[in-house]
Amino acid sequence: MYKLFYIIFRPAFLILNALKLMRHLYIIRKFIFFIQLFIIVSALHAEDGHQLWLRFDKTKATFPCFSGINACDSRFAVKEFQYDWNEMTGNRLQVVNVLNNNTLVIGTLKDRNIVSFGVGNELKQLGMEGYIIKTIHQNNKNITVVASAGDKGLLYGVFHLLRIIQTNKFPQSLNISEKPSYAVRILNHWDNQDGSVERGYAGHSIFWRYGEKHPTVTDKDKVLWKEYARANASIGINGAVLNNVNASPDMLSGAYMQKVKAIAEVLRPYGMKVYLSINFSSPSALGGLKTSDPLDKDVVKWWNIKAKEIYQLIPDFGGFLVKANSEGLPGPQDFGRTHADGANMLADALKPYGGIVMWRAFVYNAGKDDRAKLAYKEFMPLDGQFRDNVIVQVKNGPIDFQPREPFSPLFGAMKRTALMPELQITQEYLGQGNHLVFLASMWKEFLESDTYCSGKGSTVAKITDGTLLKSRLTAIGGVANIGEDTNWCGHHFAQANWYSFGRLAWNNRLSSDDIAEEWIRMTFSNDSNFIKPVKEMMLESHEAVVNYMMPLGLHHLFAFGHHYGPEPWCDVPNTRPDWMPKYYHNAGEDGIGFDRSATGSNAVEQYISPLREQLNNIDSCPEKYLLWFHHVPWHKKMKDGHMLWDELCYTYNHGVKQVRQFQTIWDKAEQYVDSERFIHVQTRLKIQAHDAVWWKDACLLYFQQFSKRPIPYDVERPVYDLNDLKKTKLNMTEHN
Ligand code: GCU
Repeated sequence: MYKLFYIIFRPAFLILNALKLMRHLYIIRKFIFFIQLFIIVSALHAEDGHQLWLRFDKTKATFPCFSGINACDSRFAVKEFQYDWNEMTGNRLQVVNVLNNNTLVIGTLKDRNIVSFGVGNELKQLGMEGYIIKTIHQNNKNITVVASAGDKGLLYGVFHLLRIIQTNKFPQSLNISEKPSYAVRILNHWDNQDGSVERGYAGHSIFWRYGEKHPTVTDKDKVLWKEYARANASIGINGAVLNNVNASPDMLSGAYMQKVKAIAEVLRPYGMKVYLSINFSSPSALGGLKTSDPLDKDVVKWWNIKAKEIYQLIPDFGGFLVKANSEGLPGPQDFGRTHADGANMLADALKPYGGIVMWRAFVYNAGKDDRAKLAYKEFMPLDGQFRDNVIVQVKNGPIDFQPREPFSPLFGAMKRTALMPELQITQEYLGQGNHLVFLASMWKEFLESDTYCSGKGSTVAKITDGTLLKSRLTAIGGVANIGEDTNWCGHHFAQANWYSFGRLAWNNRLSSDDIAEEWIRMTFSNDSNFIKPVKEMMLESHEAVVNYMMPLGLHHLFAFGHHYGPEPWCDVPNTRPDWMPKYYHNAGEDGIGFDRSATGSNAVEQYISPLREQLNNIDSCPEKYLLWFHHVPWHKKMKDGHMLWDELCYTYNHGVKQVRQFQTIWDKAEQYVDSERFIHVQTRLKIQAHDAVWWKDACLLYFQQFSKRPIPYDVERPVYDLNDLKKTKLNMTEHN
C-alpha cells in the first residue's frame, strides 16, 4: 500500500515542494493546501474491501425513479433502505402519505396500505422471513411494494430490492416472492476465547480477544459487530455460533455470557440469533459435579439451570452446537451413553425456551474400519431417536472438507432425523488465505447430488430443506471465514464464499453462475467487459484447485497439521493411520486409490441403489470420484483414451494452466479495478500459480516412484526435485 501510494503521489509531492519555494504567493499556498488535502483524503478512501458487497456509495446503475416512499420511517428495514438509497443516489426519498405514480411502499401486514393490496394471504404463506416485491397497478399508477408478514422478512426484502438496483437489474415490472430454503442459516465461528481462530486465515476473532479473563466490550467492537450483522442480514444469514466447536467449558461462565449478551444485542435488530458451542463435560469441568453423564439427575439439573440462566440474559438465544466424542472431545459415550442420549438431554433443557441442539456427526473413532464409513455406522442406528429440537449436523462429505468429496451417505439414509449440511467456508483444504477458489460451484455439486432416497431426483437439497423429507427443523451451517482483517476474509475473493453461503442458504436453487454474477456486480463493477471473464475464472476455480491438488477422487494428500501444501509421502510415527495421506492414496506398483467397492471396505454399501451399484463398478463410477472408491491400476484406460497415469499427469498439468489463465484474466481486468484490490489479488494469484506447480510436481514425482512411467512430454517438466520438496516444512502449527 505504502509503495503504491509512493509511486502514484511522489511526483505530485515533488512538484508541490518546488511550488512551495514560491511561498510568498498566497494563492499558491492555498492551492498547495487543497491539493495535499485531496491527496490525503483519496488515500484514506483506498479500496480496502471493508464494505464487502454493500458498496452503495459506489453503485453505478440506472436508478428506478421512485417518486416517494410510503412507509413507517421508524421501522428498521425502512431506515436501512433510506440510508442505502441516500448512499446510492445522494438523496433521501421523501415520505408520502398518498400513493402516487412510482411510489415505493415498504411495510408489513400491520400497515393498512399493505393489507389493501390484497397480498395478505400470500404474505402469511411466505412466513415471517419471506417477502414479496411487486409492481402493483392501481388507479393508473405503478406502485412498487416491498412487503412481509414480519420485520425480518421486510429487511430481507429491502436488501433484495437494493441488490437488484445495485446490480443494475431493476426490471420494468416486478413479481418476486421469496421464502428461505432453510429456517436456520447459520455461521459457525471456530473462534477461541484467546482471540485465535481455528483454521482461520483472516486475522483474529471479531468476538474474542487475547488474554481477557473478563471479556470487555468496546464501542469499536459494537461498530464491527453491527457491520458484520448487516452484511449477514443482506444475504439472509440469521444465526451465528460465536465460539469454536472445540469448545472450552468456561464459555458458559458468567464473564463470557455477559459478552455473549452484548453481541446478541447488536445482532438482534438484524434478525440474527446467537448460539454457542458447548463442551459436553461442562457440568464437571465448570460446575464441579462428579460426572457429566447425560442420564445423571444432577447433570440434567445443571443443564436446566444453565439454560434458564442463559435465557434470562438472552431471551432469543438460539441454542447449542455440540462436537462430542470426536477428535478427543468428551461426550456421552464416555459414560456408556449414545449420541442421542446426549443430544436429547440438552434438547430437553432448551425446549421450554425454543432453543435447538445442533449435534455434529463428525465422528471417527479409531478402529479398523474405513474412516469414511464411521459416521454412518454410528448414527444410522440412532435414526428416529432424536428429539424434534435436535438437528444432526453432517459435513458435506464423509471425510473432512476435502477439495472434492462425494456426499456423506448419511444424507438420504437417516430419514427420521432432521439433518443439516455443514459446509466449510474457510478454506482449510483449499489454499487457505492465498488461493482464489469460488466455493458455490462445489456446494452446488453437493446440494444437487442425488441420494435416491425417495427415488430419482432426491437431491441433498430437497431432502434437507424439507421438500422431500418433512421435518420440523431445517438448517444449514457454514464454518466462517471471517476475522479482524480489514477486508474480513483475508483474500478479497474469499468474500464471495461468505456471500455464496448466505445466498445458497436462503435459496438452494440459485445457480453458482447467478451468485457469482451478483457478487461481482456488487463488489466490483457492472461493466460486462469485467464481469464475463472474471465470472468464468470464478466458476472454473474449484475445478482448477481439484485438478492441481487432488484430481480423480484423490483425497487428503495434505501436509500434516496445517493442511496447506502437498505431502503424499507424509509418515509421522505413532500417529493415527487415518491422519496420514498414505491411508487414503494407497499408491503402490499395482495402482492407486482407496478400494471402497464391495471387494474393499464396501463403503459403497452405505449409498442407496442405483447409486451404490454405479459407484461400486469401476467402469460406471464417475471419474471425478474414481480413486475415492477404487484402487485402480496405473494402466487402466480412462474415458478419453489415456491410461490412468497419463491422465493424472495431464490433469495436474491442466490445473497449473488454469491458474496461469486466471492470472491473465486478472491482469487484463486491471483497468476496471481499483489498484489496491487489483494488486492484492494479483499477488495472491502469483502464490497460487507457484503452489499449483508445487502440488503438481510433488504429487507426480512421488507417485511416479510407484507408476514407474514417464511423465508425458506434453506435460510441463517438473521444476522441483522430489527430495527438495520433501524437505520443505512450512512453519505452521495446527493439529490435524
Ligand atoms: C477438521 C479440522 C479441525 C476441526 C475439525 C472439526 O479436522 O482440521 O480443525 O476441529 O475438522 O470439524 O471438528
